[in-house]
Amino acid sequence: MKRQLLLYTGLFLALGACATANQPISDEAMGLSKTSVFNDPAPAAFDYPAERPGAGTRYEQSYHTAPPMIPHDISAFVPVTQSKNLCLSCHQNAAMAGQAVPKGVPTPMPVSHYSDLASGKLDGSRAVCTLCHAPQAKVDPLVENRLGAGR
Ligand code: HEC
Ligand code: HEC
Repeated sequence: MKRQLLLYTGLFLALGACATANQPISDEAMGLSKTSVFNDPAPAAFDYPAERPGAGTRYEQSYHTAPPMIPHDISAFVPVTQSKNLCLSCHQNAAMAGQAVPKGVPTPMPVSHYSDLASGKLDGSRAVCTLCHAPQAKVDPLVENRLGAGR
């Protein structure tokens, strides 16, 4: 009798453990947004920086080799096309590439952005700046990047 009771208790516990291991994941816990994946929430409105170039503050680089975010208004400079690239008028400065500049002065494009540094010729793969560089709005990251920032 005692033996049988033990057996039943054991069986009951084992079944219980199986049941917990096979618990379905709630649809609230699947995504990063912590709401049901069936929800279609309206995203919060946000604004890109309205500061004119020179009045912006450089952002910290998200991770080493990340293209820096644009800290100023670019609405007057887009779209960037083959025949019209206003970004270059401020950022193309081969003689200063890689060097620090005072606040308010356009950051010179790095060495990698020129096909020939002596003549200051733009590398074709960098022609459309907005392919890699984007303005940044004040939005808290969904998930913190703990790999470390800085350049
Ligand atoms: C009128 C000059 C001017 C124009 C045009 C301009 N910028 Fe800038 N840019 C600046 C200045 C000045 C800064 C430094 C931050 C500040 O003072 O606003 C800057 C900063 C940046 C940075 C951040 C660099 C860093 O050090 O973190 C990026 C990226 C950038 N600009 C990209 C662009 C792109 C892409 C365009 C074209 C769509 C553009 N800029 C057009 C002047 C300009
Ligand atoms: C293919 C992607 C790509 C394109 C296109 C591109 N960039 Fe960059 N840019 C980068 C990356 C990546 C870095 C960071 C370089 C590093 O970490 O070594 C960078 C850095 C910069 C910086 C900061 C330099 C510094 O010393 O901090 C400026 C300014 C800049 N780019 C401007 C431009 C402009 C203006 C254009 C268009 C003419 C452009 N970039 C096109 C990827 C790109």
